[in-house]
Amino acid sequence: MERRSGKELRELFLNFFEEKGCKRYHSFSLVPDDPTLLFTIAGMVPFKPYFLGLKTPEVTRATTSQKCVRTNDIENVGRTARHHTFFEMLGNFSFGDYFKNEVIPWAWEFLTERVGLEPERLYVTIYLDDDEAFDIWHNKVGIPADRIFRLGEDDNFWAAGPVGPCGPCSEIIYDQGPEFSCGKPTCTVGCDCDRYLEIWNLVFMQYNRDENGNLTPLPHKNIDTGMGLERLASVVQRVPNDFETDLFRPIMDKACELVGVKYGEDPKKDMAVKVISDHIRASAFMIADGILPTNEGGGYVLRRLIRRCVRYGRLLGIDRPFLTELLPVVRESIGDEYHELVEQASAIEQVLSTEEERFSRTLAQGSDLMDSEIAKVEAAGGKELPGDVAFVLYDTFGFPLELTEEMCGERGITVDKDGFEAAMEEQRERARASSKQTSSVISKNVYTELADKIAPSPFCGYTETKCEADVKAVIMNGALAESASEGEEAELVLSNTPFYGEKGGQVGDTGTITADGAVFEVSDTVYPVADLIVHKGKVVKGSIKTGARVTAEIDAARRADIQRHHTATHLLHEALARVLGKHVRQAGSLVTPTFLRFDFNHFAPVSLDELREAERIVYEQVLKNSPVTTRVMPIEEAKKTGARALFDEKYGDEVRVLGISDFSTELCGGTHVKNTGEIGLVKIIREEGIGSGIRRITAVAGTQALPLFQAYGTAVMSLVTMVGGDLDSLMDRVGAMVDEKKVLERKNRELQVKAAMSEIENSVKPVASVNGVDFIAEKFDNITPDLLRQIGDRIRNKYPNAMMLLAGVGSEGNVALTAMASDNIVKLGANAGALLKAVAAELGGKGGGRPTLAQGGAPSADKLDKAFAAAPKIFEELMTKGK
Ligand code: SER
Repeated sequence: MERRSGKELRELFLNFFEEKGCKRYHSFSLVPDDPTLLFTIAGMVPFKPYFLGLKTPEVTRATTSQKCVRTNDIENVGRTARHHTFFEMLGNFSFGDYFKNEVIPWAWEFLTERVGLEPERLYVTIYLDDDEAFDIWHNKVGIPADRIFRLGEDDNFWAAGPVGPCGPCSEIIYDQGPEFSCGKPTCTVGCDCDRYLEIWNLVFMQYNRDENGNLTPLPHKNIDTGMGLERLASVVQRVPNDFETDLFRPIMDKACELVGVKYGEDPKKDMAVKVISDHIRASAFMIADGILPTNEGGGYVLRRLIRRCVRYGRLLGIDRPFLTELLPVVRESIGDEYHELVEQASAIEQVLSTEEERFSRTLAQGSDLMDSEIAKVEAAGGKELPGDVAFVLYDTFGFPLELTEEMCGERGITVDKDGFEAAMEEQRERARASSKQTSSVISKNVYTELADKIAPSPFCGYTETKCEADVKAVIMNGALAESASEGEEAELVLSNTPFYGEKGGQVGDTGTITADGAVFEVSDTVYPVADLIVHKGKVVKGSIKTGARVTAEIDAARRADIQRHHTATHLLHEALARVLGKHVRQAGSLVTPTFLRFDFNHFAPVSLDELREAERIVYEQVLKNSPVTTRVMPIEEAKKTGARALFDEKYGDEVRVLGISDFSTELCGGTHVKNTGEIGLVKIIREEGIGSGIRRITAVAGTQALPLFQAYGTAVMSLVTMVGGDLDSLMDRVGAMVDEKKVLERKNRELQVKAAMSEIENSVKPVASVNGVDFIAEKFDNITPDLLRQIGDRIRNKYPNAMMLLAGVGSEGNVALTAMASDNIVKLGANAGALLKAVAAELGGKGGGRPTLAQGGAPSADKLDKAFAAAPKIFEELMTKGK
């Protein structure tokens, strides 16, 4: 058998199936388009809708090397030869096309003829009653019956999860030889040890399993096969575990080098190195696909992996950030197949180093806490770490619960998980209580009462701007009132309304509510409690009574502006996700008639180019004039469509899904334009950070964009007029002027200094005289230390026998000090170094130097006057001492 690299094996596989008519796809993202899964766990995941018959594939045969992450056994990584979090799955798929008859002989052909595995080392397993598979293996391929094993559901029935497509499978097993055996008398095909290695799983995907466990045949019979590339490589390269294949070895070697370990000498250290090598690879891929370390979902898994790496690094004795130093080898080992690692290199580096740094700060303290708590538990004869301690470790020191469990496990201690959950719940409760406190309103009761008493306010404003309605309630000063008269502020509840109450970031509508001879101007519309729309405003004419028949009409032009900004927000959300990565999720938004604000998670400032690209994508959608549609559907169905939903947002069972052609789908209760063309131009006017990992974009759309551009245009044209030339030369001219200004400023300062210097000789006078030596102490503002020396030289012209102490106060209040003495006076006992040291100490600063010249400084000029007042005395004492 030829020893082939991982890369060669990947190519061999994909080429082989291309020959069999499969279309080769690049690996799909690790983040699946599937709410039931956190990660892509197998090659079939991206094709699930085709298996289920929900979508029609563009081809019926496909092949991939798919990036996968499985996290059910993180603790086993490094301990066994085969566990990984990230791995590549070689797969070929048939969507109602070829089936068992073809795929079984092909798999055999590939392994024995292309890869060159020895047939006498291969075994096959099939599902208990799958006679068809037996027949093909035995009669068509020629495998002796005693090498075909029939196994049960656990081994030979494959499903991606409790529900979904599934089917019986057949596995190809490679016998690594008796030296790999566990030695038990029962060790044979199907044994969990390392001898009989499952290398390829052929799934005959023909059923769908529903929530009740019932199997129904799929519309077609499909094929899904999966073979771990790392595992195949270990067999072909004849190495005892996946980590020693060329896919991993360079990463392990680099990790060994960084932590100063020699692989193969100490199994414990080998294990730690394997953990680091596995997790760094997985983390790099996860970040490249837009996952960020958080406390939820996939982000939490990433956080665990990174933090586990950091901890194992510390255990190996490395006491500095090191993770990013592994990234170049990760890229070299696999980056030519997965360009995202190269394209996202800087994002990966940034995210990793931030997370590493964050955890490094608390790891040592947390470990100390854990040690002392474990000691307490042990002293009390216990075996379980209390849940509230695990919670403090989690909440304050950033220890994922699983890491605490693992670390305790190493010492034979378990963790009270229920106690941990209870502490977590208590904290959530506190958070809920405090948020309620801050949002509570004095008059809440009147609203709650009303909401209980009257039916939910119907909202007709998705389609109407005006309607007839009855006044259901008039509220004044937080209480129900019969009526409100001219000049009075009030709140109205209607039987029907086109007014949108502020919700989901979209501001409330304004407009008028009129009755016979009465006008109520609505200045805002809100939902003080769910389902109750309240119109706030003032009666400007007549009086409005409970029960009156009224016409409610919104300010339609303002609403149109709001709608433009709202639909623009959806476009921007999708555009940013396309430009910056799938991790982009809305963290907050504000939609007003004059601007929109969109907050989202992203780890770095958005560059000008990225902003421009997002604007371009949005504009492209505007120009397409795509229809904006809404559909109300059960939440589960909405999730299946992949519609974006807000984290942490509570949705009802029925949700409204807003679609903009096939560009964006999002759950949204807001009001929108009918076609994207109505939005007009969308211009981002600001991008800023508003907290860790959250960016904010402010933009304007539609009618607001024109005045903005006009203002820009006017400003630019005025500039052209001011500086001369034309638009093309404007930047150069302004640039030249700015440079010139800097030069002139410098020159001007120099002149000022010169002028000041000539003054100095006349103005400076000695403040004391000791043994015939003059003592001069002078302060100057905004003078740099080098200028202090020049000033000193000047003064010396006039006072050749003076000790000079000069201070320059900088623009930030700091002090530069210089002391100078001529040789003559040094002979008399003067010492600039000693003087400066003493004065600097008075100022809380530092300094020193030679007897003739010394320099120093202090952070603040607060004590400068005091120190200067004391200086003649200090000088005198030093002179006396020096003599
Ligand atoms: N989906 C099957 C597996 O993961 C075959 O690809 O084993």
